[in-house]
Amino acid sequence: MAAQIISGKDLSTTIRQELAARAAELTAKHGVTPGLATVLVGDNPASQMYVGMKNKAATAAGLNSRQLTLAGDISQDELLGVVAGLNADPTVHGILVQLPLPGHIDEATIIEAISPSKDVDGLHPVNAGRLATGSGEFFAPCTPAGVVEMLLRSGHDPAGKRVVVLGRSNLVGQPLANLLLRKGRGGDATVTVCHSRTRDLAEVTRNAEILVVAIGRPEMITGDMVSPGTVVIDVGTHRVDDPGSEKGYRVCGDVLFDEVRKVAAAISPSPGGVGPMTITMLLSNTVDAAARAAAVA
Ligand code: GUN
Repeated sequence: MAAQIISGKDLSTTIRQELAARAAELTAKHGVTPGLATVLVGDNPASQMYVGMKNKAATAAGLNSRQLTLAGDISQDELLGVVAGLNADPTVHGILVQLPLPGHIDEATIIEAISPSKDVDGLHPVNAGRLATGSGEFFAPCTPAGVVEMLLRSGHDPAGKRVVVLGRSNLVGQPLANLLLRKGRGGDATVTVCHSRTRDLAEVTRNAEILVVAIGRPEMITGDMVSPGTVVIDVGTHRVDDPGSEKGYRVCGDVLFDEVRKVAAAISPSPGGVGPMTITMLLSNTVDAAARAAAVA
């Protein structure tokens, strides 16, 4: 049977409509329009593109979106000053400093300077720690939150299932494992995390009922690494050379899609899978931040 295609693009359209309705209600009933500030340092083309997409999506959902574009040679102290200004601004509920930052700036210092209550990227150690300990309010990082939401909304609740997460980064694998382990909605899974040093990787991936791949290697997961009936979520996005195509390149994920789709019960494509959901979860966190600020969450 053909695999179910889990379209992050289609799910995002639905969720963004829900978020637009929540944002409109916050504005109308509480006089609070969710505000997102994105900070772009330097002229990295990929970062420019991602930040542009985030602002566009925020504006389309009725959020107040502001992009600060700063010179690549800005000093760390100056950047800390910008972050402090946004922390103090009551119209800004969410702050996102796009990574990577230029080499002379310490990323951890900047992330830790963002108020945890405005850290809609979920990268501040307070938010990461609360996610890990299960105590208090927190923001989950957007990509892992998007993966969990995709599973729930496509009918694949991870509760009780064997979920294998391939990748252990701070941005995806590690927080995703914590989200899946938590008690309650989107959690209660039996989680295995594996990585580039895992022995007999295919044996581990073949044991998964749900396999989430965030290893950062183009088309690494082949059909023989997946058991029939598995749900596969592909977090990777890569541009690979393709001399036969008009552009000379194509975009692919960490999963060899055409092979794995023949084995899997359900699979998310890349592009059109996790990418749009990451931006959607940023909007969701920003609306939540505004609701908390308005004391209605
Ligand atoms: N660069 C690549 N992914 C991300 C992300 O999720 N957040 C931020 N701030 N920068 C990124």
